[in-house]
Amino acid sequence: MASVLTADFSALGAQCRSLEDAGIDGIHWDVMDGRAVPALSFGPDIIAACRRHVALPFEAHLMTSDPDPLIDQVADAGCDTIMIHPDWIRNPRRTLQTIVDRGLTAGVALSPGTSVDAARWHIDIIGCILIMTVEPGFGGQSNIELINEKIRQVAVLISASDRHVELEVDGGIGPDTIAGAHLAGARKFVVGSALWRSQSFAVAKQKLDDAIGAAYPSTKPV
Ligand code: DX5
Ligand code: ZN
Repeated sequence: MASVLTADFSALGAQCRSLEDAGIDGIHWDVMDGRAVPALSFGPDIIAACRRHVALPFEAHLMTSDPDPLIDQVADAGCDTIMIHPDWIRNPRRTLQTIVDRGLTAGVALSPGTSVDAARWHIDIIGCILIMTVEPGFGGQSNIELINEKIRQVAVLISASDRHVELEVDGGIGPDTIAGAHLAGARKFVVGSALWRSQSFAVAKQKLDDAIGAAYPSTKPV
């Protein structure tokens, strides 16, 4: 998934098309309200404007102090998945159920300091756990490799549940950090600055795929 927080905001539609052409599997929208996190990024209207440019799945990572008013707007804008930070809001269960009732995948985002328990007690209704390997609020930060231990714990939680729940990692993912997260059990990755730092999205994607492959010298990674 590409985090477009680092994209050229003056050409977001074209950037989404370039990401799709490069084989990137989806767009990760970091919706920030300037209160829950310092930055103010984009909202439903920007997401909707880009929706008609590509067929890719859209997921919204709501870094907002009150996600409830945004659920319908972000769903109507064309997102398939909405992730919230359960420890930031009063009634996360109700918010997650609202997302599920809209027919979308509900996800729980865990900041580095948030325990796996914040996802554990919602495992029966969520379809995704987003493990943040940076502090929420900015692109281009360094990956906190210690969080690979949390990835292992969440992988155990998911395998013990009888549900299909995506284990996704978000923050500082690049050729030098993706293998550690994959080995810990992550199978979906949000990548921002590592895409825009590269000479092309396709080259960046290849480097990430190669880094995962190199972590399993004798077998093919699943
Ligand atoms: C940070 C966001 C991440 C970030 C990823 O608050 O949730 O999605 O934009 O960007 P990189 O890959 O640059 O860390
Ligand atoms: Zn994010």
